[in-house]
Amino acid sequence: TTTTTRSLLDLVPVIPVVVIDRVEDAVPLARALVDGGLPVIELTLRTPVAIEAIERIAAEVPEILVGAGTIVAPQQAMLAAAAGAQFLVSPGSTPSLLGAMTDTGLPHLPGVATVSEVLALLEAGYTEMKFFPAEAAGGAKFLASIHSPVQAARFCPTGGISISNAADYLALPNVGCVGGSWITPAAAMGAQEWTRIRTLAAQAATLGEHPGS
Ligand code: 3PG
Repeated sequence: TTTTTRSLLDLVPVIPVVVIDRVEDAVPLARALVDGGLPVIELTLRTPVAIEAIERIAAEVPEILVGAGTIVAPQQAMLAAAAGAQFLVSPGSTPSLLGAMTDTGLPHLPGVATVSEVLALLEAGYTEMKFFPAEAAGGAKFLASIHSPVQAARFCPTGGISISNAADYLALPNVGCVGGSWITPAAAMGAQEWTRIRTLAAQAATLGEHPGS
């Protein structure tokens, strides 16, 4: 399996956030992302097959770092870890979610949308977090505004990000990467268009050629 000591925020410019409906799509999808130059995938626990999809990718596509997203209940953290998830992402950061994700021993990104939530995570020892829902919660302007007063925090913004606005976020000194579902659109997933997804991944990967800091 892929292991890393580097920050989750510094692996790829864009973490593909995936909703998967058919477990048999997991491996070809993961291979398309790797081939496109994005060897990281966040499988959201929003569909019944997500945990099995993580298992298959962890077993069959060792070149990719596979994580579980949409961790909204504490027990999901250990389920994802048991399936082979290598990182965890939550849209929020309640004390019980933080405890459950910490207990897995896996790197994880808790979610924040306000300054007080950022400060609470810093107090708990986190310096890297997901900013969600990025566009709805203030967008790149929000992150630019809090960089000076809250310098210790770095972010992976997700929610409403696409190829057209990702660079605005990536140019910020407190953004390491962004997350988004635009690389795996529902229509392309439905039609099993792996070549299309590989192309979208390759396009997203080029965003890393212009780092902001
Ligand atoms: C997430 O879980 O990070 C978001 O649903 C991704 O947001 P997007 O679908 O707007 O890219």
